[in-house]
Amino acid sequence: MKKVLKIKSQKNKSKIVCLTAYSKNIASIIDKHCDLILVGDSLGSVLYNFSSTKKVTLDMMIEHSKSVRMGVKKSLMVVDMPYNTYRNPKEALSNAKKIISQTKCDAVKLEGGKKVCQIIKTLIKNKIPVMGHLGLLPQSATNFKFKGKKITERKIILRDSKLLEEVGVFSIVLECIESSLAKEITKTLKIPTIGIGASVHCDGQVLVTDDLIGLNKISARFVKKYSNIEKQINDATLRYKKDVLKNKFPTKKYSY
Ligand code: KIV
Repeated sequence: MKKVLKIKSQKNKSKIVCLTAYSKNIASIIDKHCDLILVGDSLGSVLYNFSSTKKVTLDMMIEHSKSVRMGVKKSLMVVDMPYNTYRNPKEALSNAKKIISQTKCDAVKLEGGKKVCQIIKTLIKNKIPVMGHLGLLPQSATNFKFKGKKITERKIILRDSKLLEEVGVFSIVLECIESSLAKEITKTLKIPTIGIGASVHCDGQVLVTDDLIGLNKISARFVKKYSNIEKQINDATLRYKKDVLKNKFPTKKYSY
């Protein structure tokens, strides 16, 4: 709970740095630089080539989260509840308890607004911290266009953000939302907003780590590549291959 309160207290004070992790090795590198690490169900497309996050199962999320837990010491660790695991309060509570007890994460994240408010209320009543997710919702999206162009859509997203705050989420991810709407939501709410493709006006930012290090091939407008890890892995593999072919590896130093 301390870590959740810390994230909330950062609103209007310091920007909140968030990234995804699907494994211990990545988590342990990014942990010291992050405030929040999300085990996102984006792992379905990033690691498993699924056409949609709908195919991600609870067991997949739990196993990846167990690995991530080993690498996270300081950040708040949030785990996505996958598709069809929170269709009603009873199902959501049972699955959220499973996630928390088996992965020792700090909180769960659910996609949606008004529709999931009763579900979120139940989780929070049972002392499970919840993060909301509005805008582009990959678990139910029919297209991947940004949200908030149409007035009616803007009104619904703003209304939903207020409803999520009312039921007690500690923060909301705003995915692919038009800048001025993200600004308005961020100004209106007392809880922090975390943007992904939702402008600099949000209280924090999140990206999929594999995208920002250049390991996942994606060309979305909101992704900035900060590294080209693919090139580094390629170079290392090539050098290793050459050494093996020329009997230069392993030398005495690497032998018993
Ligand atoms: O699944 C995920 O990685 C996410 C982030 C993109 C916010 O939900």
